Amino acid sequence: MNNLFAFSGVRGKQYFLTISVIIFTILVWAWERNPLSTTHMSLSQQQFRVHSKEKYSQSFSTKKKSLAPNLWNTTLIGPSTNKEKQVPNSNVTSAPPTALRNDQAEQVPGVFIGKPTVKKVCNFAQGKWVADKKRPFYSGFQCKQWLSPMWACRLMKRKDFSYEGFKWVPDNCDMPDFDRETFLKRMKDKTIAFVGDSLGRQQFQSLMCMATGGRRLKSNVQDVTKEYGLVRPPPAIRNDGYAYRFRKTNTTILFYWSVSLCRLEALNSSNPKNGYFAMHLDQPVTFLKHYLHMFDVLVLNTGHHWNRGKLNLNRWVLYAMGSPVKDKNLLNISGARNFAVYNIVKWVNSQLPHHPRLKAFFRTKSPRHFVDGDWNTGGSCDSTTPLTSGYRVFPQNGSLDAPVETAVHGTDVKILDVTAFSKLRDESHISKFGSKVATHDCLHWCLPGIPDVWNEILFAQI
Ligand SMILES: *[C@@H]1O[C@H](CO)[C@@H](O)[C@H](O)[C@H]1NC(C)=O
Ligand SMILES: *[C@@H]1O[C@H](CO)[C@@H](O)[C@H](O)[C@H]1NC(C)=O
Ligand SMILES: *[C@@H]1O[C@H](CO)[C@@H](O)[C@H](O)[C@H]1NC(C)=O
Ligand SMILES: *[C@@H]1O[C@H](CO)[C@@H](O)[C@H](O)[C@H]1NC(C)=O
Ligand SMILES: *[C@@H]1O[C@H](CO)[C@@H](O)[C@H](O)[C@H]1NC(C)=O
Ligand SMILES: *[C@@H]1O[C@H](CO)[C@@H](O)[C@H](O)[C@H]1NC(C)=O
Repeated sequence: MNNLFAFSGVRGKQYFLTISVIIFTILVWAWERNPLSTTHMSLSQQQFRVHSKEKYSQSFSTKKKSLAPNLWNTTLIGPSTNKEKQVPNSNVTSAPPTALRNDQAEQVPGVFIGKPTVKKVCNFAQGKWVADKKRPFYSGFQCKQWLSPMWACRLMKRKDFSYEGFKWVPDNCDMPDFDRETFLKRMKDKTIAFVGDSLGRQQFQSLMCMATGGRRLKSNVQDVTKEYGLVRPPPAIRNDGYAYRFRKTNTTILFYWSVSLCRLEALNSSNPKNGYFAMHLDQPVTFLKHYLHMFDVLVLNTGHHWNRGKLNLNRWVLYAMGSPVKDKNLLNISGARNFAVYNIVKWVNSQLPHHPRLKAFFRTKSPRHFVDGDWNTGGSCDSTTPLTSGYRVFPQNGSLDAPVETAVHGTDVKILDVTAFSKLRDESHISKFGSKVATHDCLHWCLPGIPDVWNEILFAQI
């Protein structure tokens, strides 16, 4: 076998291709015979998969994704991770830079018999923070038109702004500095939609400031919120969403507020506003279904509303397959999030063939930095010194938001993995300078700030 691969050049590649095709065919054949084929898999069977992670790791290491991309789809993945990592003290920086995950995936036993070609895979999540005098991209004093006052730290009592002056430099990816002219040109006649929670709204406001340079451009930017039916329902303090169009390039930037990304359904039709709601873990929010065909770039996120307190407060009842959830894996909130993330990714992926121009991203969880308590029990984040816990990320163990990473694996939905590098920026939150006197905000970020970087990474991929 060895001399088969010992020579280089075209013939070697042909042999490699032929053998790949044979292995691929065998895999397809084996797959079609596989009793785990799950077209009509019941919920409880799917739940079984939550417990059979070891099996998955095995199939992960023996079936090469790039050889058989179609096999590596939702049937293999399933809502299989409960390993959402809650590691407040993990020292991301100190992890050794060896055995990169992506390189490992390139080495498939029995295929690369010769020297494995170690390709450097672009992973925006791996890299370092570097001080940069060209930051920020816009002024926190000036971008009043797009920034919520509660997030514009320049307008608060905060006095230190060193956090504004860093850029993220991925190790193996080209990431040009954000340039608003280039961005708008690239997005000519296109729509970019953020759908998610308040951290999604931060990313949206950040992009509005980046795209306008933080300047007032009233005559150049048109409010098209109504085109998307995004109105303010009477008791609400703000819209379900916002949409603005840059007249010159006909570029639309939109935000829709959906904290779970799931469809909500009023359960009591005679009392639709104040009764209970079914929160369908296996159905995407209706807005997405209605408007997906109008988007060119979609950025989803869901994270911090997945807790019992918030669900109860909203009177949201977890539903799956049209009935209240009974399965204990789904009653567990992080299990429910995994399941919802998996389902929304599966749905978006199934829509992509119908919308060839659409690029879909799932942004991972934005990290919280409460110390000595939570948001409502005196937790705080008082550091003003950048990068005290390191400036590098070596993600050989994958994303810190494993459910998102697992869900997008093998789909055409891309991960926007911001968790680990944002985790190094505990000094960049609103902290005690927000509008709510008693509580510290160690969840949302000062703007300009970290969400600008998320948008740069997005910009590099669209
Ligand atoms: C997964 O791939 C198999 C084999 O290509 C295909 O039959 C099946 O429909 C796919 N499932 C999904 C959900 O895409
Ligand atoms: C603006 O872009 C949309 C697509 O997003 C397109 O349908 C529409 O025709 C464009 N409008 C103009 C005036 O070019
Ligand atoms: C539905 O709402 C009405 C009006 O508030 C109330 O009288 C009724 O008890 C509710 N039904 C249920 C099943 O909760
Ligand atoms: C949910 O399950 C995970 C993993 O099995 C466990 O660590 C966590 O404590 C559970 N959460 C709740 C609220 O039961
Ligand atoms: C992280 O690791 C570095 C180097 O090993 C060490 O100097 C630093 O104190 C660690 N930080 C934390 C927060 O553990
Ligand atoms: C990465 O994963 C390996 C094997 O699962 C484990 O031994 C190692 O401690 C992990 N490293 C980090 C930094 O989490």
